[in-house]
Amino acid sequence: MKVKSKDDLIYRPHIHFSPRKNWMNDPNGMFYYKGKYHLFFQYHPNSNVWGPMHWGHAISKNLIHWEEQPIALFPDRLGDIFSGSAVVDHKNTSGFGTIENPPIVAIYTNHDSAREKKGSKVFQTQSIAYSLDEGQTWKKFIANPVIKNPGIRDFRDPKVIWYEREQKWILILAASQTTQFYESKDLKQWTYLSSFGQGIGNHDGVWECPDFFELTVEGDSEKKWVHLVSINPGGPNGGSSTQYFVGNFDGKQFIPDSNFEAQMKITHDFWIDFGKDNYAGVTYFNWHKKKSEVLYQGWMSNWQYASLVPTNTWRGTMTIPRELQLYLSDQKIYRLKSKVFSELEKFTIKILENDEQIIKGREVIIEENTVDLSNAKVEIQFDKMEQTRYTFILFNNQGDSLSFGYDHGIKKFFIDRSNSGHVDFSNNFSAKPSEANRLINTDSLKVLFILDKTSIELFYDEGITVMTEIFFPRAPYTKMALQFSGSKTRLKGFKVHEIKK
Ligand code: FRU
Repeated sequence: MKVKSKDDLIYRPHIHFSPRKNWMNDPNGMFYYKGKYHLFFQYHPNSNVWGPMHWGHAISKNLIHWEEQPIALFPDRLGDIFSGSAVVDHKNTSGFGTIENPPIVAIYTNHDSAREKKGSKVFQTQSIAYSLDEGQTWKKFIANPVIKNPGIRDFRDPKVIWYEREQKWILILAASQTTQFYESKDLKQWTYLSSFGQGIGNHDGVWECPDFFELTVEGDSEKKWVHLVSINPGGPNGGSSTQYFVGNFDGKQFIPDSNFEAQMKITHDFWIDFGKDNYAGVTYFNWHKKKSEVLYQGWMSNWQYASLVPTNTWRGTMTIPRELQLYLSDQKIYRLKSKVFSELEKFTIKILENDEQIIKGREVIIEENTVDLSNAKVEIQFDKMEQTRYTFILFNNQGDSLSFGYDHGIKKFFIDRSNSGHVDFSNNFSAKPSEANRLINTDSLKVLFILDKTSIELFYDEGITVMTEIFFPRAPYTKMALQFSGSKTRLKGFKVHEIKK
């Protein structure tokens, strides 16, 4: 029997993907093909801190059990392999395969660190590689790079999509604090189309890892284009985070809706996640369950402290996959919301259900030894809320606790991990609680969260506001309390599921 390391026992998540060994950051090149989800990732196979980047690879049939595969892409004469995407070239437009066996084509950034060290500005270019065996082995294109550097220092993270209307490929990449759009018929020759980002959105950091997809609005026939842009730093609670824009695309240029743009100037609350630990997330190619949903996954960390978190065997975990949808908000603006991936349902077992419970002051609502709180889905509803604070507290017998909840007096959600366990590896980890404004105005609230040893993923108001954060308690949290600062509150529809793999 293999002996598990201390890290593995305490911190290795159950259902979230983490590499067997060493450093991981962004998800890359995700696609769904022949019943399998393929996840590639920024990987440093020789160390548990960031270094020369490779593409690691993992496969899953259900988004719960992941099997790590051999490394997919290694650094080459053009540099290391930074973030990018992959497509199934069904029509064999590239000519790398056949219609019967379409090639998988990966499009990524080559980062030439030797050139960077010499002081050059043009060390990031875009290259392609293809696989004829479902992503197991790859051949780099002989005429790489396919997009040369036009003189921009940060020029990376190409995302390629198929633009059905004109039967062509569109590539979007990050260029300093803008994004650029290109088109191609064969994935090899690319023509510049337009750029986006001047004077709109957050510009407190470098733009990275863009994504671009069309969604049918929930309960409507309207279609809209959504543009994701990760930014580091500049996040709503510090460090790295992902903003989004909604608008139209004519095959050449993305134009955000004018009311969206106007609202963005007033409040910048168009973030895919308000917690500190969801970065560089992008969507799966070839996943078409519904036209009103895309499948998305991010890296569950933050560049402020990613290399300092207290795991050693490996460092880096992905978020759970999420289905993103568009809805029309009360201010008549299209916004994104996130749902827990549907496959999870099959792996949950109900442990606790309580119809109604009255809470005064502080009460333990999950007792020790009733639920495995390092592996659970919890759902709670409130109605007729008072204008005051509702705090959940996860805790253990060592004095560690994680607090999170909602203050209906100021209409803000919060997470406070200052007492959550190991926190002093970085000043940025818990210096102040993370906060998010509530985006709807009602006196009832639905809360759903997923716990997996070192993470909480909170979906408020059915995914209208999401907060994802990691934590490192000295021993697992075993109990949960609810603290209420008003007169008394009623817990409605309280349900706890354990997640069984
Ligand atoms: C985002 C990022 C990307 C880059 C990669 C390098 O986290 O900085 O822009 O391609 O990580 O590992």
